Formats: sequence, structure tokens, C-alpha cells
Amino acid sequence: MPARTRTRDNRLDIHLRPEELRETLRRDVRAGLTATPKTLPSKYFYDARGSALFVDITRLPEYYPTRAEAAILARHADEIAAVSGADWLVELGSGASEKTRRLLHALEAGAGLRGYVPFDVSAAALTEAMDALAQEFPGLEQHGVVGDFERHLPALPHPPRGGTRMVAFLGSTIGNLDPGERARFLDDLRGGLAAGDTLLLGTDLVKDTGRLVAAYDDAAGVTAEFNRNVLHVLRRELGADVDPADFEHVAVWNAADRWIEMRLRARRDLEVRVADLGLAVRFAAGEEVRTEISAKFGREQVRAELAAAGYTPLRQWTDPDGDFALTLARLDQA
Ligand code: SAH
Ligand code: TRP
Repeated sequence: MPARTRTRDNRLDIHLRPEELRETLRRDVRAGLTATPKTLPSKYFYDARGSALFVDITRLPEYYPTRAEAAILARHADEIAAVSGADWLVELGSGASEKTRRLLHALEAGAGLRGYVPFDVSAAALTEAMDALAQEFPGLEQHGVVGDFERHLPALPHPPRGGTRMVAFLGSTIGNLDPGERARFLDDLRGGLAAGDTLLLGTDLVKDTGRLVAAYDDAAGVTAEFNRNVLHVLRRELGADVDPADFEHVAVWNAADRWIEMRLRARRDLEVRVADLGLAVRFAAGEEVRTEISAKFGREQVRAELAAAGYTPLRQWTDPDGDFALTLARLDQA
């Protein structure tokens, strides 16, 4: 059973305690930095500083996905709420829960919203978002989950007195998983849901390469700072003697796999000692560590991946510029 604490009259389930997160970080960093090519997994971007930097990214002129998705929600949240028939909203990778407000309002105005389940690996972002929502939605029951959506979905909370859930997975965070991981994610999620529950999936769409790359390599350098934040995490959590300034931010479009790759490139020959792992890692000048992928989709591709995973696509919406898609799908059989 997860540990439980209470904030106000809300509930927080903690599947991932800080020491456990550090343990998985240790494992992943050892595996990633001793592999060829080197990699670092992306969920460790999101400590308190990383989560705040991500909010800054969402406000950058180059980062269109947040505005595009918000525009779809502004226009269609009522229809989404009605078609879902949900009275509980679950949100995976909820972060600051900003766009979520539109869904909460629409669900409240419709059949009646009973509760909100924000789920995020970042305890800092989660508790801050829950506190803000408690002010704005005084009657709302909140049940936060600190967890990893690649591990803890089968234990997704069920509505306490029955009801129908809509699971929102926004921000194209599903694109940060590769195709195999996506299929496993959708399968795990099905295990945590009941028949009649729906999934609202946000996906960024393939478009002009220049705009795609700019969204991940902004002029102000905020994304570069966000990318290097994983090195700050390695310093603090694992005693790595890495100097983040020794690494340059790189974003490239991988046309074959249809994803943006974020990398950190060593500016010179160097060695990083990771004290807690007893590990010394050499980098040649110009060597790159892959830190993140952000896959881009076609509209039919999204529906096909959902159908292949056992979800029935119900409706799909895009913003006026056709940059981003929201797809609502139902689980007909758990
Ligand atoms: N939904 C927000 C935030 C997207 S950023 C938006 O659309 O703007 C991705 C979010 O997913 C972050 O809040 C991050 O902490 C969370 N996250 C990343 N990997 C995760 C994982 N494996 N399990 C749970 N949450 C994760
Ligand atoms: N889900 C976001 C996306 O793929 C996450 C993201 C945006 C991101 N900018 C980033 C992840 C830069 C790593 C680096 O668009």
C-alpha cells in the first residue's frame, strides 16, 4: 500500500518516495551512462526547478504545443466533457494543471464533477497545483498520486463511490515514449481502468521541420537550461562532479523515427565522476547523450495506436492551424 498523507481535506498517495526515486535514478544513470550511445532518462528533468522551467517553456513564443492544445480545450471542452460522461478526471503528468482548469469547469457545468486525480512524478509540482486548485474549486475532492506512469498505472485510484473516469494525458507527453513504451503504457493504463472510462490524449502533429526544431531550441535558451537541468539533478542527487556549462543543448529532427531528439553535447574531452555510483564516465569532445525524444504524430496514426491497444476512438479535434490533436477514446472492455 502506498503511504498516505493529507493536505487540507485532500488526499495524496505516494507511490514514489524520494529515496525510491533516487534508487531508480541510480539504476537508470548507471545503465544510461555506460551504454553506447549514452542516454539519460527524461523523468528526472522534473525536480522543483525543472518543473518551473517547463512552465517557462510553455510560455515561449516558439513553443506552440501548449497554446494549440489550450485553444482546442477553450473551444471543445464542453463537448469533450459531454461525450466522456465522466464525473472523475484523472490527469497523468499533470504538472501545474494549468490547461486542466478548462476541463474541470466543463465537467462541473455538465453532468457534475466529483473528483480530480492529478498524477505526477514530481511531488513539488503536484502539491503546488493541488493547493492552487483547492482555492479555485473549493468543493472539489482531490486525490493526488505521486507516481511513475510507467510503473504505477495498474494501481490507479478507482472512484470511491463508483463513477466514470476520464483520463487526460496532455502536452504530448505520450510522445516522450518510444513506440514500444507507448504500447506498454496504453496496455498498463487499460489495466487500471474500467469499461466506460475514457482517455483524452494530446498529441503534437508532424509539421514543418523548422517550427518543430525551434520549439525545442528557443532563442532565449530556456529549453537548453531545462535540458541541462538533468545534470544539476545528477550533481545534487548522486554527487556527480559534472559542470552543466560543459554541455551544449542540441535538438534535432529524426525524420526516420518522426521524433525530435534532445541531446547534451560535450564541449570538450572530459570525465564525469559520479561519486554515489563509484563511476567515472569519459566524454570525447562532441560526444552526445540523448536525454529525451518527443515524437510527432499523424491524426490517423493516433487513432490507429489507440485502436491497436484496445481503445475505441470516439472523436478527434485539432486547433485551427492543425498543429495539435486531442483524441477522445473509450475503453469498451477492461
Ligand atoms: N501536463 C502538463 C505538463 C507536461 S510536462 C502540460 O501539458 O503542460 C510532463 C509532465 O509529466 C511533468 O509534470 C512531469 O513531471 C511528468 N512526468 C514525466 N515523466 C513522468 C513519469 N514517468 N511518471 C509520471 N509523471 C511524469
Ligand atoms: N511533453 C513535452 C514535449 O515533448 C516535454 C518537453 C517540451 C521537453 N520541451 C522539452 C522535454 C525539452 C525535454 C526537453 O513537447
